Amino acid sequence: MTGREGGSRRFERTTSVVTGAAGGIGAAISRRLAAEGSHVVVCDVDADAADRLVAELLSSGADAESCVFDLLDPAACAAVVEEVVGRRGSVEVLVNNAGINRRGDLLSLTPEDWDLSFSVNVDAMFHMCRAVLPSMVSARRGSVVNTASQWGLSPAPGHLAYNVSKAAVVAFTKNLARDYAPHNVRVNAVAPGEIRTPMLEAGLARSGRTVAELDALVPLGRIGRPEEVAALVAFLASDEAPFICGSVVEITGAQAVA
Ligand SMILES: NC(=O)c1ccc[n+]([C@@H]2O[C@H](COP(=O)([O-])OP(=O)(O)OC[C@H]3O[C@@H](n4cnc5c(N)ncnc54)[C@H](O)[C@@H]3O)[C@@H](O)[C@H]2O)c1
Repeated sequence: MTGREGGSRRFERTTSVVTGAAGGIGAAISRRLAAEGSHVVVCDVDADAADRLVAELLSSGADAESCVFDLLDPAACAAVVEEVVGRRGSVEVLVNNAGINRRGDLLSLTPEDWDLSFSVNVDAMFHMCRAVLPSMVSARRGSVVNTASQWGLSPAPGHLAYNVSKAAVVAFTKNLARDYAPHNVRVNAVAPGEIRTPMLEAGLARSGRTVAELDALVPLGRIGRPEEVAALVAFLASDEAPFICGSVVEITGAQAVA
């Protein structure tokens, strides 16, 4: 699946910055935006995976570049965006998708895991938005989509740092939307349930559970695919959603958090 089933080109003449772009959901988002005509800046700390994805996108005739930096470095976030805006003139779409999932309840989680969860899942989103918003505001055009999680709305047990940091993504999204809607910058979030990606596979390896077991818990009969989240992100980012702002859209196959 290429992510271009409809063949639409909603992102012609746009530049999109995607974080965590080399991971499971991020790669699907990058493929979708690129397939629909955007120049995609594939941001990830994993240089090999980012370069592989960009090579794939370029060979399919899409337009992309890789941008390897650590989101834990606020100066790098600012410098990357400044360079991209300077060279491209504008950034129309920012997808804050990078995230990590550190397991543990209050007493088993380490303070380091708590801090790291907030640094990647929340602080990086803050720094990327601080860097990108000025150019969107001056253009009076832009769309930000943040990857929250269903667990940020309804917590799964034993994932305190992840759940609370994703709740912060939800709150951040709604706050930013209210502040920047008057500038015609829309801010939304997606809240996925279980999606089959390297992050999910790592969780399964730790717990000894199987994909089939997870599939059986979902009323639609299976866990989600990265391409399905990417389609939602692309819709929210596109001009097809001009009145959707400050929304957090769940994508879960009707699964409730167990
Ligand atoms: N997979 C799921 O079931 C699921 C469910 C709900 C929400 N999410 C969210 O979706 C997003 C993507 O998850 P995924 O499953 O594709 O994960 P993934 O682990 O496959 O991808 C995450 C990517 O982020 C990058 N990254 C991590 N830390 C970074 C840093 N400091 N600097 C730069 N890049 C960094 C990684 O290199 C990786 O490529 C995350 O925010 C995650 O919390 C995933």
